[in-house]
Amino acid sequence: MSSKDSSSGTPAAAGVDGQGKDKAATNTQWGGRFSESTDQFVQAFTASVQFDQRMYRQDIEGSRAHAAMLTRIGVLDETDLTAIRQGLDAIEKEIEAGNFDWSVALEDVHMNIEAALTARIGDAGKRLHTGRSRNDQVATDIRLYMRDACDAAAAECTRLLEGLLPLAQTHAATIMPGFTHLQTAQPVTFGHHVMAWFEMLLRDLERLGDTRRRLNRMPLGAAALAGTSYPIDRQITRELLHFDAVCENSLDAVSDRDFAIEFCSNTAICLMHLSRIAEELVLWMSAQFRFIDLPDRFCTGSSIMPQKKNPDVPELVRGKTGRAYGNLMSLLTLMKSQPLAYNKDNQEDKEPLFDSVDTLLGSLRAFADMLPAIQVREAEMRAAARDGFSTATDLADYLVRKGLAFRDAHEVVGLAVAHGIRHSQDLADMSLEVLRGFSDHIEADVFDVLTLEGSVNARSHIGGTAPAAVKEAIERARGRLASAYMPN
Ligand code: ARG
Repeated sequence: MSSKDSSSGTPAAAGVDGQGKDKAATNTQWGGRFSESTDQFVQAFTASVQFDQRMYRQDIEGSRAHAAMLTRIGVLDETDLTAIRQGLDAIEKEIEAGNFDWSVALEDVHMNIEAALTARIGDAGKRLHTGRSRNDQVATDIRLYMRDACDAAAAECTRLLEGLLPLAQTHAATIMPGFTHLQTAQPVTFGHHVMAWFEMLLRDLERLGDTRRRLNRMPLGAAALAGTSYPIDRQITRELLHFDAVCENSLDAVSDRDFAIEFCSNTAICLMHLSRIAEELVLWMSAQFRFIDLPDRFCTGSSIMPQKKNPDVPELVRGKTGRAYGNLMSLLTLMKSQPLAYNKDNQEDKEPLFDSVDTLLGSLRAFADMLPAIQVREAEMRAAARDGFSTATDLADYLVRKGLAFRDAHEVVGLAVAHGIRHSQDLADMSLEVLRGFSDHIEADVFDVLTLEGSVNARSHIGGTAPAAVKEAIERARGRLASAYMPN
C-alpha cells in the first residue's frame, strides 16, 4: 500500500477474506505475548493507517521532541538522537514525496513510522518508544493536528469576515426589505444585513479560539494511562511542541476527546450559519426575488434547460451542514459510556473529525471567495421594500409622538394599510387628505417618516439599521476582528 493509494487499506481492497493466517505478518510490536498472528481480516479491520496517515507530520514532530527529552534526561545518548533525527527527517521527506510504503499490517501511522525508522537506523529506532505509549502519542498527534486545523479555519474565517466589511460599507445605505416570517417587515439597509452575517461568523471565529486554547495541552508523558517510571521531564517536551501546558491527569490525557467534539460542534454551528446565508443567497438569486446575482464562476448550468444558472456553491454548503451535524453526533455517541482510560473505540474519532475539518475549511473558503463578489440589484431591493407597507411601523410611531397611545396608533395604521391594499397604493404615495382621513393627528411632516430613507435613518442607535449606524458598526468591527481569535 503506497501513500498515493490510501484506499487499498480497506479489508476488501487488501484482498483479505478473514480466514487466512499469515505467520509472516506476525506483528513485531507485540509479537512476544502472542502465539498466533492476527487474523488477516481483523488486521485490516482494526487498522487506521488509511486515515490517520494524514497526521504523519505531527507524529514525527512529537517523536523528535520525545527523543530530545529522552536524551536530556540520559535515557538516550547523542548518537541515538542524531540517528533518530536523521531517520525521521528522511521518512518525512519520503512521505511528502509520496514514496512511503504504508502498511496495513502495521496498523496505524505511529507504528508505520516507527517500523520505518527502525528499518533505517536499527536499535536506536526501537529505543524511541521508551516512556511513551501509542495512547499518549495519538492523543498528542491529534491535538497538534487540531491546533493547526483551528489556525487554518480561523485564517479562512478571518478572510471571509474581512471580505464582508467592504461589502457592508458599499451598501451601508442600500435599502431592502427586512423580513420576519419571510414577510416584508420593515426597511433595512443591505449593509446592516451583511453586518448581521458578520456578527454570526465572528462568534464562530471566537469559538475556534476558545477551542484552540483548551486543546493546547500536552498529553505526552501520560504513556499508556498511568504515566511512566522513567524520570521524564514533560516541560521539555511541552516547550518543544509549543503547548501552553501539560495535561494534569494521565488517565484523562489519553482518553478524552472532548476537544474533538468541541471542534465538530464549532463546525456544526458555523455550517448552520453558512447554511442560513446560503439559503438567503439562493432565494435572492431566484426570479421571484432578483435581489442579487452571483458571478458565473460560482454557478453551474443545466444540461437540459439552457436558461438555467444555478447557485451550486451556496446549495452545496447548505447541504454539507448535514454531514457536519452527523460528525458531531458520531463523536458524542462515540465518547458516551467509555470507561477510563483509553479504549480502541477512540480510533473512530478521526474520520468524523477530519471530515469536519475538511468541510469547514472548504465551506469557509468558498464563501470567502464568493460573498465579496455578489452583485447587488439595488433597484429591485428598493422596489421590494416599497411594496410591502414596510414603513407602517414608522407611521404608528409617528402617531404616538403626536399623542396617540400605541395600540390606537396600530389600529389607525391598520386601516390605512387596508386602504392601500384595496387601491394598490403605498402609504408614502397617499395624499395628505387621504391620510388625515384615518387620523387628524397626521400632518405634512408625516412624509419624512413614510419614506424608506426616513425609516432607516431614524434607527441610528448602536445596532440599528441607519447608514450612519452601520458605518460606525463597520469601524468597530475592524478592531473586534483583530482580537477575536487570539486576544493579545
Ligand atoms: N490507532 C490508535 C488510535 O487511533 C492508536 C492508539 C492505539 N493504542 C492501543 N493501545 N491500541 O487510537
